[in-house]
Amino acid sequence: MFNLILFGPPGSGKGTQSEKLIAKYNFKHLSTGDLLRNEITRKTPLGLEAKKFMDKGQLVPDEVVIGMISSTLDNNPNVVGFLFDGFPRTATQAEALDKLLELKQQSINVMLALDVSEEELVKRLQKRGETSGRSDDNQQVIRTRILEYNKKTSPVADYYRKSKKAEMVKGEGTIEEIFKGLIKEIDSRIHKK
Ligand code: AP5
Ligand code: MG
Repeated sequence: MFNLILFGPPGSGKGTQSEKLIAKYNFKHLSTGDLLRNEITRKTPLGLEAKKFMDKGQLVPDEVVIGMISSTLDNNPNVVGFLFDGFPRTATQAEALDKLLELKQQSINVMLALDVSEEELVKRLQKRGETSGRSDDNQQVIRTRILEYNKKTSPVADYYRKSKKAEMVKGEGTIEEIFKGLIKEIDSRIHKK
């Protein structure tokens, strides 16, 4: 298996690039944001609880997302690899992920971090807010999301740096250019195996 974390701040293009990577490599996409929005649409107790945090731009409690990831890993035993999008977002989540993968004799192969300036993030998310219908795509909540990222999520990169699994990738430019940068990093590692 080849397990990849696509890392980056809100609006850095994780979802956009995930779609393209899945089409190319057939990874199983695991976006905690999408999973949570699905719970909200279905009005499940988990969704209703998560919505309180998401509408404010705050992170949902660790145990909620870790539980979701754990069951999704169990439900997908025969995949070529997982593409984690928007997870892990805290040090606790990163440690929990390592433990869950270890139970399956698996590990993270690489963490690719999309590098995008704050100005560009705000521009992209405000633009998307005009049509997305996402309750967190408005100016005030966007600001909180970026603050949460800087405070709680950005340090997660250090966790992967320590094990030499982290790589920065250019996150500005055309979608195709960025995609090529990601492919280069993935292929150099897949082919080494
Ligand atoms: P989540 O759904 O993960 O949202 P996010 O991280 O805030 O990021 P986005 O999905 O908004 O952006 P993206 O990086 O996917 O970029 P995209 O491709 O869409 O999380 C939402 C909330 O759920 C969190 O705030 C939290 O409350 C909760 N949550 C989720 N996971 C959690 C976890 N693990 N722990 C705790 N809480 C959790 O692109 C953005 C826009 O830019 C799009 O309009 C796109 O078309 C455009 N764009 C993309 N690439 C380019 C480009 N190269 N040039 C110009 N525009 C571009
Ligand atoms: Mg996304």
